[in-house]
Amino acid sequence: MSEESKPVKGKGKEKDKEKEKEKAAKKLHRAIDGLSKDQVSQLLDLNPALANELGSGSNDDPNAVSEALRRLNLQDIMTGLASSGKNVKDMGAYKFWQTQPVPKFGEDDPNKPVEEGPIRNQTVDEIDKEPAPLLGGFEWSTIDLLDDSQLKEVWELLNGHYVEDDEAMFRFNYSSSILKWAMMPPGWKKEWHRGVRATQSRKLVGFIAAIPVELRIRDKVLRASEVNFLCIHKKLRSKRLAPVLIKEITRLCNLEGVFQAIYTGGIVLPRPVSTCRYYHRAINWQKLYEVGFSPLPPNSKPQFQIRKYAVPERVSIRGLREMQKKDVGAVQDLLTRYLAKYDMAAEFNKEEVEHWLLHHKKDALEEQVVWTYVVEDEHKKITDFISFYCLESSIIGPSKHSNVKAAYLFYYATETGLATPTDKEALKTRLNALVSDTLVYCKQYKFDVYNALSLMDNGLFLEDQKFGPGDGQLHYYLFNYRANPIAGGVDKKNRLDTENLSGIGKTQI
Ligand SMILES: CC(C)(COP(=O)(O)OP(=O)(O)OC[C@H]1O[C@@H](n2cnc3c(N)ncnc32)[C@H](O)[C@@H]1OP(=O)(O)O)[C@@H](O)C(=O)NCCC(=O)NCCS
Repeated sequence: MSEESKPVKGKGKEKDKEKEKEKAAKKLHRAIDGLSKDQVSQLLDLNPALANELGSGSNDDPNAVSEALRRLNLQDIMTGLASSGKNVKDMGAYKFWQTQPVPKFGEDDPNKPVEEGPIRNQTVDEIDKEPAPLLGGFEWSTIDLLDDSQLKEVWELLNGHYVEDDEAMFRFNYSSSILKWAMMPPGWKKEWHRGVRATQSRKLVGFIAAIPVELRIRDKVLRASEVNFLCIHKKLRSKRLAPVLIKEITRLCNLEGVFQAIYTGGIVLPRPVSTCRYYHRAINWQKLYEVGFSPLPPNSKPQFQIRKYAVPERVSIRGLREMQKKDVGAVQDLLTRYLAKYDMAAEFNKEEVEHWLLHHKKDALEEQVVWTYVVEDEHKKITDFISFYCLESSIIGPSKHSNVKAAYLFYYATETGLATPTDKEALKTRLNALVSDTLVYCKQYKFDVYNALSLMDNGLFLEDQKFGPGDGQLHYYLFNYRANPIAGGVDKKNRLDTENLSGIGKTQI
């Protein structure tokens, strides 16, 4: 959601919420009292939005910060901290996560780089061959996504119970096509699509998935997994089922000899390796306004906003065209060289580039998930490419619209950025042209909004292309791997950092 937007709620509801907030605030204050000085500093380092709320300089004096934290109301504290009160409650006591091989808050000296590497070393022989037992009435189930009825079950669970914004106005609605795309890349394993069913009704009530990824962190390449789509039916929340699912996917990955993982989330857990911010570029401003996604800024009028977000009629780059199968090799080569500059990125082979970037037109029944455009110069050389994927969100409350169709900026690369020494101005100009041209396509394909994070080189064009800062953050986590922090593209005040660009070259669907 856009930064300034605060949806108007009915009065009764607001009051109930006030009471809940008061209760949560009390608990939170108790948790704050339990934080050490180091933990307070780390908390602020990891939550630029929160540091921002507290004002500049407060980071230097942990006592003052604790005091200031106590004075804030819950909503203020939650800015950039968590997507729900649930997470705040657990701030002082990560009962599950403190047992896992992840770095803890306050354990490293922020001024001393750590030696990067695995936290726990194990061999496949040491791993349980059987899953941990579930609560009575529930059982494990491996989900076969090639079976349309099982794919539909996953879709139904996520459609009703997956990630919502803080105000419960929107919920991600991953289409069946995007689920297949995201969970079945080359090398995917059926065993890594793990569900929990109610034994009697057979209903799918929990899910977690992993896919294989060659993940480079600085100079080391890990055979890792990427964990995603953790979801528990709303009626089974807060029963400590999430840790059971997380331990199960860990076991299944370990059995394949994979001991490291990457995952992302909007909530703060021990301990993000990087934190990026969401940015949103309105395409259909009127609709975004009507559904409560975009506010009408003070002193503005709808027609001014609509004019502000007008999109060029035509693309500007000569030689820009849709990616075709014959481009896979050139795109893979360009992407590999481009991603080399980031501290963290995936290493993609040709099959993976084809999977993630090429839309197969022959699957007439499949909805298009990814759009990729390449620039071919007069010598038939591919000099640039840029891609985005489609992810809709359902509108939860009453509205004349049922969904918001969002394009998410995905991977891009350009020869312009690869010249040595890097000509930052030339790169900025080129990226602006590429992104501006994708706006034309986003409009053509009837997207309502174009979303991007502060990762890769996005700091060079987000503001120029009228992407506004959102209220969401995306934290990157590594499982069983200690790594020094990676720049997320925003400064301590959660503003776009155009000087110190992000070191993140990895997106997650
Ligand atoms: C995320 C979700 C599965 C958590 O389930 P829950 O019933 O709220 O939580 P449980 O009681 O089962 O477990 C709580 C533990 O899981 C951890 N946890 C919660 N969400 C987590 C997440 N997204 N990633 C990792 N751990 C998470 C909590 O920190 C807590 O551990 P702690 O004691 O160490 O702090 C559930 O809220 C859900 O389905 N939400 C909607 C989908 C979603 O947000 N998915 C995550 C996408 S990143």
